[in-house]
Amino acid sequence: MTLPQTPDQHGKGEVELAVSLGPLRLRHPVINASGTFDLGEMEAHYERDFVADFPFSAYVPKTVTLEARAGNPPPRVSETACGMINAIGLANPGLQSFLNSLPALAKLREPVIVSVGGSQREDYVAVVEALEKTLDSATKGSVPQVAGYELNVSCPNVRTGCLAIGTDPAETAALVSAVRPLTARLLVVKLTPNVTDVVVVARAAVDAGADCLSLVNTFRALVVDSVTLKPFLGNRTGGLCGPAIKPIALRLVHDVAAALPVPVIGMGGITTGLDALEFIACGATAVAIGAANFAAVDAGERIVAELEAELRARCLPSVSAARGLALPGSARSARDA
Ligand SMILES: Cc1cc2nc3c(=O)[nH]c(=O)nc-3n(C[C@H](O)[C@H](O)[C@H](O)COP(=O)(O)O)c2cc1C
Repeated sequence: MTLPQTPDQHGKGEVELAVSLGPLRLRHPVINASGTFDLGEMEAHYERDFVADFPFSAYVPKTVTLEARAGNPPPRVSETACGMINAIGLANPGLQSFLNSLPALAKLREPVIVSVGGSQREDYVAVVEALEKTLDSATKGSVPQVAGYELNVSCPNVRTGCLAIGTDPAETAALVSAVRPLTARLLVVKLTPNVTDVVVVARAAVDAGADCLSLVNTFRALVVDSVTLKPFLGNRTGGLCGPAIKPIALRLVHDVAAALPVPVIGMGGITTGLDALEFIACGATAVAIGAANFAAVDAGERIVAELEAELRARCLPSVSAARGLALPGSARSARDA
């Protein structure tokens, strides 16, 4: 394919990167994927003020569960061809610790979308209820702007809850129906690719009141230890992510965006601005960066800069102008821009 220009032949003029995720205005469409960019850890390891200078347009912390979770036995992570597999098992210090950490995030200028997980519906409800109570009673400026929740019903590495909910449309609907009345904030449901038809679960979530869908979480997978010929991960199986999954993730985002009227956060193997643009063409309003954060601490800002260059190279004036170009019925092409 011949492009009108290449990224290094930039046209002049502003490219509008801001997008609206429902009521939420983001300064650009690139956010982090839960569990792959921990602000506390970043601040501890690098001499850089990540709170004052946050690379993403929203912060999605590691999934929070009601009780602290130790996670799965090691090894928990392995590199694979074109990707990585993990079986962290939602290790996190639990709700109370997360609540305690909120004041430290108060200076964050970007909105926070709290990822919530659980073994059963009641756990999710308890976490959202507690957060709403804390946020409602907090004095202005003492906590970050929590703009919404992402219900993680898609972690493949825990024995109960999560994936059992996200693979069952009725369970997903019941969970969303239980959480919806608790909050007026943006309610995102994070979908699993480990189903036959992702649109069925997506529709169940939206019909029950979800404002937005994010996908994909990782694909259930297994790596074999070449010496012992046993499963390598302590949990035996894990979740595959990274570039290896990108074409499948694109297809799933495309199917959901084509079928449903709510905004979609697309993710799965994004490592470049062009990857991000492909997800946007498949209907994503925002994109999330996961495994790429483990390869480079500056992946977020690099991908935003590359995305802007890719838009400009195609003479696309905004992210919105690129959205949905790959969807059925879109007569336009980037060449028409
Ligand atoms: C080490 C690791 C930990 C993760 N932890 C979470 C998590 O706590 N909650 C969640 O919803 N997704 C979690 N994920 C999944 C990512 O958010 C993302 O959906 C997935 O990795 C696909 O994106 P990617 O291919 O860009 O990595 C995790 C992924 C990795 C690699």
